[in-house]
Amino acid sequence: MSKSYFRKAVDAMSAYVPGEQPKIVNLVKINTNENPYPPAPGVSEVIRNFNPERLRLYPKSDCDDVVRVIADLNNVETDMVIAGNGSDDILNIAMRCFCSPNLPLACFKPSYSLYPVLAAMQEAQVRQIALNDDFSIPENAVEQAAGANLLIIARPNAPTGNSFPMSQIRKIIEDFDGIVLIDEAYADFADDNCMSLVKEYDNLMISRTMSKSYALAGLRFGYGVAAKTLIDGMMKIRDSYNVDMLTQEIARAAFLDQDYLAKTKNTILATRARLERELSALGFSYVKSQANFLFASPPDRDGKRFFDELRQNSIIVRYFPGAVTGCYVRISVGSDTEIERLLTVAQRMYK
Ligand SMILES: Cc1ncc(COP(=O)(O)O)c(C=O)c1O
Repeated sequence: MSKSYFRKAVDAMSAYVPGEQPKIVNLVKINTNENPYPPAPGVSEVIRNFNPERLRLYPKSDCDDVVRVIADLNNVETDMVIAGNGSDDILNIAMRCFCSPNLPLACFKPSYSLYPVLAAMQEAQVRQIALNDDFSIPENAVEQAAGANLLIIARPNAPTGNSFPMSQIRKIIEDFDGIVLIDEAYADFADDNCMSLVKEYDNLMISRTMSKSYALAGLRFGYGVAAKTLIDGMMKIRDSYNVDMLTQEIARAAFLDQDYLAKTKNTILATRARLERELSALGFSYVKSQANFLFASPPDRDGKRFFDELRQNSIIVRYFPGAVTGCYVRISVGSDTEIERLLTVAQRMYK
């Protein structure tokens, strides 16, 4: 094989594997935690009224209009907010700011599989801390994370869907000698969130996304909130135009319709409760979810068999191989019709 011109770390790393976007007719796609409902009506209005001539000019670098709305909604100052091209962009910027060959990352397992990939790009070591059997955070997590400069906690966690007690999170932020980034991609579906803590702790950052609760995964908009000093540093590292003009305006319109957000969220939570109930009746176990998905294990604990059978029926969920995760599939809470199709297959298999 010819010589590689890549950095050793690039040759050595594995790429992140996103959930499939298959082209199957009559597909039920409940594998990447997208929202089954359309985005807020204001989004269509912005797109309809947008004059393409405006695209001659660069977008606002500081995203000030949408940042003001985010600051108001979260009761923080505008200089505590950074906008990004999805929350993956925020995670990536944080990794570039805080991790390097001498500054490791700490994160949990199982959790969002992008974190170690981003660390590999920085040639940073990763301290992966195994969650307990019930997917709670072990008591000695901070000891296990010692020496890391950044600790990422997905709360609610993915792919398991559970949250972690606020008192434990506070203690981790206080005891950990580094930056704690709480990835709140699913927090809009949860009973509580950590946003108010950013005013108390200057080593805390929160990341959020519009991909799930706002039904805007295709738009790519996320944001980070933290003490001004952290945001100032992250601003140095991000691309100057990391959010395009149309995205800034669409995101703002969607944020301004909080009633619509609440309505779709409540519908999703009702479907989630129904999914939990009906799977339980068939002998499934599941992790109590605080997100728009359910990590569920069939009666025979064979996640792969259930995944394969669903796929045969054009229903795509997510399967994570592994001793622990392989007993489960992750089911995004789709529409009632989509969930009914999944339940029909489950009834055929396990009743
Ligand atoms: C825990 C977690 N964080 C972040 C993201 C990425 O979100 P975004 O679409 O904003 O990049 C995901 C997407 O699945 C996720 O599960």
